[in-house]
Amino acid sequence: MCGIFGYIGTDNHAAQKTVNGLKDLEYRGYDSWGIAVRSPRAQELYSRKNVGKISGVAEKDFANIVGDMSIGHSRWATHGGVTKKNAHPHFNHDKTIAVVHNGIIENADVLRRRLSEGKRNLFVSETDTEVIPHLIDYHMKMGKSLEDAFVATCGDLKGRFAFVVMHTESDFLLAARSGSPLIIGKGEGEYFIASDIPAFLEYTQVVNYLDDGEYVKLNRTEARFRSFHTQKKIQKKDIPIVFNKEAASKGEWDHFMLKEIVEQKDSLARAINQDDKAIKKIAREIQKARGVFLSGCGTAGKVCMAAEYFFSVVAERHTNFAPSSEFPIYHHFLRPESLLVAVSQSGETADVLEAMKVAKRKKSKVLSLVNVSGSSVARASDYSLLINAGPEKAVASTKAATSQLALLLLIAYATAGKLKEGKELLIGLVGKINDQLNPKYLEYIKKVAEIIFRENDVYIIGKSANYPMALEAAIKIQEVSYIHAEGFAGGELKHGPIALVKKNTPCIALLANDETKDDMLSNVAELKARGAYIIGIAPEDHALFDKWISVPDVGAASPIANLIPIQILAYYLAVLRGNNPDMPRNLAKSVTVK
Ligand code: M6R
Repeated sequence: MCGIFGYIGTDNHAAQKTVNGLKDLEYRGYDSWGIAVRSPRAQELYSRKNVGKISGVAEKDFANIVGDMSIGHSRWATHGGVTKKNAHPHFNHDKTIAVVHNGIIENADVLRRRLSEGKRNLFVSETDTEVIPHLIDYHMKMGKSLEDAFVATCGDLKGRFAFVVMHTESDFLLAARSGSPLIIGKGEGEYFIASDIPAFLEYTQVVNYLDDGEYVKLNRTEARFRSFHTQKKIQKKDIPIVFNKEAASKGEWDHFMLKEIVEQKDSLARAINQDDKAIKKIAREIQKARGVFLSGCGTAGKVCMAAEYFFSVVAERHTNFAPSSEFPIYHHFLRPESLLVAVSQSGETADVLEAMKVAKRKKSKVLSLVNVSGSSVARASDYSLLINAGPEKAVASTKAATSQLALLLLIAYATAGKLKEGKELLIGLVGKINDQLNPKYLEYIKKVAEIIFRENDVYIIGKSANYPMALEAAIKIQEVSYIHAEGFAGGELKHGPIALVKKNTPCIALLANDETKDDMLSNVAELKARGAYIIGIAPEDHALFDKWISVPDVGAASPIANLIPIQILAYYLAVLRGNNPDMPRNLAKSVTVK
């Protein structure tokens, strides 16, 4: 969680640059924001913080703040409420050291007690972060240089962190990483550091990734990398970035969520445009593994659950799905011949990384599917495939989810020795989705949203791989519209959930034109008999439906086709209820805490 941005260069408008950069990171956290700027000759660091979203802040309000070095933060609260005091940056007592931090310091309470001994009111916030500037200050008072104090502080901290430090009297920034992302952007006589690349993409397209256990010292002309465990120097290669700022900006669209839904016209094609050799190699690993586990969180977890059906139906291969937060419990079943398939859009989700750690401890192999190249998940994997969905900024995962589904379905076909057949099916799907995703289709689904947006409850049913899609549909509706939504396996209704259904309760049925269709129609009839208002998402209309949303008939790829109208429906439900679908309450785009 949280977005970090830092700048050092020759531009005296570092404050404005930082505010601008933070706006691109707001998706990571939007409770509150803050910046600190080092102005020449000033005794103290200048800072400004507030609760609320950084997007509402005008850059021009920072025009007269002079300084060529600045750090900033957009927060998703973990320790301490959403208050101005808890907003970052945090400082030492003299306000000579400023820190912005992402992650959780697990031993913050112990460190706070130790640092507070004999000192009253040392801490002004309730955050775990505030121990960092005080620790650096403590080590400096013990005679260490800023850099040595910083390194000593890294050694004091337990947990996952990424933080950037600025000091009034030092002409450089220091930043360390242990579990949470930090990327360095290399400009002409200037450096940027941020939690994600789009924040500095308009200034540079050359980056270095900071890895776990490393820190960087940035001055205007040089980035020096070292291990904070051994202080050994580390050489980094400059990496060019292929996507441009436009791909990561909203453009003409009202919201990123709708832009990203419509982008599925192209993102699906990119997802399946993989090197055949790489896919066949992965398929061989799956064939020979003793125990294949699929794991991810939230939407990515539901994708994994659908993939369990893909492998079963397409490749007759048994796989096991577990949400990453539950995966460690399965460690007894892991062995060196096992394979964990970890799926994550951001590649930074703490629970996924933890699941991978458990698998590694048992010497099992890890294959990951990620959207962010160079992400922690990708780096920690034995094999990694990029889904190539392009930047996904809306908190609700849409195009990443369908790309993950498409790639996993392709791998299932390859595992069955039918890569060509899988490719043909998915290429066909891409063409049909292209035809379908037009303004008329969006308008039609908006009309359906207008019928149900005032309702308090929505239920969604599906069978086989469309059952996890019913669960995913519930996530989509919950997170952006705040309507109570639940997904069920169609056949489970009669075992309890049907008691919830009253006259006109909206119930959405996800149907495929396969052997599950008749059972699903029976389940729909059971709902209809209790007065439910039925929205059928299906290749064909049916007398049981009150509203029909058409989807292409695409065989095993039906979960992908069925998910898209659900995403559109969730989007319009959010908008009709006056919510900002890009930044739902209480959430953040990547969940880097356990
Ligand atoms: O970045 P990841 O794919 O690992 O994120 C996992 C979940 O946090 C994510 O899918 C979340 O459930 C989405 N906001 C749902 O739309």
